[in-house]
Amino acid sequence: MSPNPDARTAAQHIDPVAKAAVLAEALPYMRRYAGHTLVVKYGGHAMGEGGDSFARDVVLLKQVGIHPIVVHGGGPQIGQMLKRLGVESRFVDGLRITDAATMEVVEMVLAGAINKQLVAAINAEGGCAVGLSGKDGRLIEAKKVTRSKIENGVRSDVDLGFVGEPQRVAADVLGIFKQSDIIPVIAPIGVGAAGETYNINADTVAGAVAAAVKATRLLLLTDVAGVLDADKRLLSEISANAARRMIGEGIIYGGMIPKVETCLDAVDGGVEAAVILDGRVPHAILLELFTDTSGAGTLIRAG
Ligand SMILES: Nc1ncnc2c1ncn2[C@@H]1O[C@H](COP(=O)(O)OP(=O)(O)OP(=O)(O)O)[C@@H](O)[C@H]1O
Ligand SMILES: [Mg+2]
Repeated sequence: MSPNPDARTAAQHIDPVAKAAVLAEALPYMRRYAGHTLVVKYGGHAMGEGGDSFARDVVLLKQVGIHPIVVHGGGPQIGQMLKRLGVESRFVDGLRITDAATMEVVEMVLAGAINKQLVAAINAEGGCAVGLSGKDGRLIEAKKVTRSKIENGVRSDVDLGFVGEPQRVAADVLGIFKQSDIIPVIAPIGVGAAGETYNINADTVAGAVAAAVKATRLLLLTDVAGVLDADKRLLSEISANAARRMIGEGIIYGGMIPKVETCLDAVDGGVEAAVILDGRVPHAILLELFTDTSGAGTLIRAG
């Protein structure tokens, strides 16, 4: 369900004077972000829904002197491949339990298929994207995640297998791209101290990258309008306290938990603002950054 499936056709019907006015309106926003680094996480659930405007938006950012770093997910694509191969998977709080066989598939889909599709899409729009996983240049050093669950009042540990969390992001590796035309596209795979491979939630990676490079903004593009309350109404802004309460009450669940936690950590870590927004909307990034109609998703601000 894409709210506007063909943005290019839509743009053809706009009066040229109005088009020019829209471009001119973008100038102060472009100036505000020029020279700054923005981390954009493209969720696997939003992929292919925005009529491929994502790649064009990212190229436009780089063209006007902003430094986008792309981190991508791939939950549904991993799920489809595991199903094709007959491997079952289970989730705990939005994290996929990952045994060695699953890890192989996760790496193949994320660092192989999806990463290269995204790189190719950005390059097809005239950009110069380079795909990286956390293994390249030891970009994301990770450690195993530990989780516990409480059932009938008894707490027990859950072994999630090769699910990791970032311990260190090599900001110097990403710094190289800031001085070039290259747009880094990162697959959320981490490498452990002994060289083992970890599956990391892509939101968590995006947050760690944003903190490491001191990004101005973190944009998380997903397949819902933003954080929804118990009545499924969009919350335009959310505080740390409200988010924690909603997680406790089960109103925020599954894949939205790491997303919200990432935003809270990112703003704590110095990122000015983090936004969870609908990546299915064509040109979601341009709408958020360059127009007066921003504020469509859920904003998490420092303080
Ligand atoms: N309070 C909430 N408001 C909005 N969505 C919520 C809420 N609680 C849980 N969700 C779920 O979170 C989902 C988004 O997270 P999900 O992990 O599925 O996608 P993603 O992170 O964009 O993609 P990927 O995991 O592939 O990177 C929504 O589709 C929705 O089902
Ligand atoms: Mg997710």
